[in-house]
Amino acid sequence: MAILIDGKKTSEQIKSEIASRVGEIKASGGKIPHLAAVLVGDDGASQTYVGAKVKACEQVGFRSTLVRLDAGITEEALLHEVQRINDDPDIDGLIAQLPLPKHISVEKVTAKIKPEKDVDGFTPANVGRMALNWPTYVSATPYGILELLKRHEIETSGKHCVVIGRSHIVGSPMSILMARNDYPGNCTVTITHSRTKNLDEIARSADILIVALGRPEFVTADMVKEGAVVIDVGIHRIADESKKSGFRLIGDVKYDEVAPKASAITPVPGGVGPMTIASLLYNTLLAAERKIYP
Ligand code: GUN
Repeated sequence: MAILIDGKKTSEQIKSEIASRVGEIKASGGKIPHLAAVLVGDDGASQTYVGAKVKACEQVGFRSTLVRLDAGITEEALLHEVQRINDDPDIDGLIAQLPLPKHISVEKVTAKIKPEKDVDGFTPANVGRMALNWPTYVSATPYGILELLKRHEIETSGKHCVVIGRSHIVGSPMSILMARNDYPGNCTVTITHSRTKNLDEIARSADILIVALGRPEFVTADMVKEGAVVIDVGIHRIADESKKSGFRLIGDVKYDEVAPKASAITPVPGGVGPMTIASLLYNTLLAAERKIYP
């Protein structure tokens, strides 16, 4: 049976390490890390995510500022707000929660964020630094996956890593990170997507399979090699009347049939998901301590 890659436990461990560091900073009279989150509009999922980020800041002793803006804000006014936070010396990290309303260019807003404060790692400067293996803020989900592999001592050197999905947030950076000359890394990487031919066959040749396609239970047991490491980035709500909430969460991997074949696997929920907030906190600590841009 597969080793369970426990993201909940690992993320709690990381948060407790960060909280200890905040304790040291406080004791020495240093600056408490301060994250600002910009939320435009009232999308329910975004409100939940941002709420969880603010709560996590409290949990580790960070300061946080939530900037809530009306869905009808103009692009110009939003860019102005980002500039104001860029210029605020008290704020170390700045995130603009995505998605933004359709009339606002996500490229323009992302490019406006000062790379030094870009704790999401979304700006062109920081994505470029990531690709060059320079010190940078690695974005939350990819960083979370690297930490899970590291802290569960998963061997990656020389392995065939297959990434399913090519999003800017997960698939694309993951393919770069797993190929770089580092640990985790040094894999032979294949990146696949909706136009890939023979996807099943390619997936079956993976020693490490990272699934970030956004399709419920897309990966079935016949697509997985015996002994593969399986990382499931997907998260979907499906109706379930046996639950009090009326729903349950599933991933991009058909867990019950894939887990018996895998050597290690992330569950959903409790796998990659909880790691993303821990990663954001870690990047905010790096920003406050000027570790990336001294
Ligand atoms: N929307 C979904 N994931 C993310 C994330 O990691 N950061 C931001 N800012 N928005 C998101």
